[in-house]
Amino acid sequence: MSLESLLVSLSDGKFHSGDELGRALGVSRTAIWKQLKKVGELGIPMTSVKGKGYCIDGGLDLLVEEDVRAHLSAEARELVAQIEVMGVVDSTNVRAMEKAQLGKKGYVCTAEQQTAGKGRRGRKWASPYGSNLYLSVLWEFDGGASSLEGLSLAVGVAVVDALAKAGVDDVQLKWPNDVLYQRRKMAGVLLEVTGDAEGPCQVVIGIGLNVKMPESASTSIDQPWVDVTSITEGDSRRSLLLALLLNELMPLLERFGAQGFGAFRQRWQDLDVYSGQEVVLKYGQETIHGVAESVDDTGAILLRTAEGLRSFNGGEVSLRPVTT
Ligand code: BTN
Repeated sequence: MSLESLLVSLSDGKFHSGDELGRALGVSRTAIWKQLKKVGELGIPMTSVKGKGYCIDGGLDLLVEEDVRAHLSAEARELVAQIEVMGVVDSTNVRAMEKAQLGKKGYVCTAEQQTAGKGRRGRKWASPYGSNLYLSVLWEFDGGASSLEGLSLAVGVAVVDALAKAGVDDVQLKWPNDVLYQRRKMAGVLLEVTGDAEGPCQVVIGIGLNVKMPESASTSIDQPWVDVTSITEGDSRRSLLLALLLNELMPLLERFGAQGFGAFRQRWQDLDVYSGQEVVLKYGQETIHGVAESVDDTGAILLRTAEGLRSFNGGEVSLRPVTT
């Protein structure tokens, strides 16, 4: 009996006795008890009451591949080659990258939990079990590394559009690709590239979306954050949200391959949380002060500085602190 099948039985949030679970899953009570210990180790909040059995507090919203497929648009369905729903993995980006050598364009990997979820700039991405979305898509572009310029920004636009379809409005972007709601981070994008700098290259597009962050996992996050369930009463089942993400992302990847970032630049600018504001860019050892003007066709940020308009293709931007 797998841990996953036990979790499916417990996902309704009701009490189940060890006997009942054993009978349903065809194993002994001792086997159930051993697996229940692992449920606790995953950080899933569980209550056990003598005479009643075991219950996952609030139930679990597990990912179900058929549910994801059922909500895919015809266009997305065409472009998705395979959806793999995994349990506990190190990082979905790592798993998707493994498929790059096999040429699996359109491979989609998602997991209930990541033990080594990767964020930008070497940070960790909080990835507790069954709570948020962790998604990686493998795609191929023909024109070498330069054809990928601005891709991570364009992906941010797809995430905003998917959230709007889920009833989450007023979402903004922070350069290059943080997805924010009222200046708190709701999602992040991490691209990893392999292949020919001049010819065909494979890209893993990793997206992490906070859906229902448990209190216990939130303590490790070192920046203001927000999750979907705390700002919408709409349907926020993860399988549905995943399909909505793919419905925006897959066609966007296709279009990006043909038209590049230019086709998304205006949309990105309209969503820019720092547009026209005084910001500070940490760029290597440099700290640059300027007004965030826009982004160019390569996705570089354009800052109006004392030396004129300057563009930067890396670094970390923040609002300029108010000085008195
Ligand atoms: C960021 O720091 O803003 C980027 C976060 C990206 C997280 C996602 S979760 C799915 C995929 N797998 C990873 O290990 N990271 C990305």
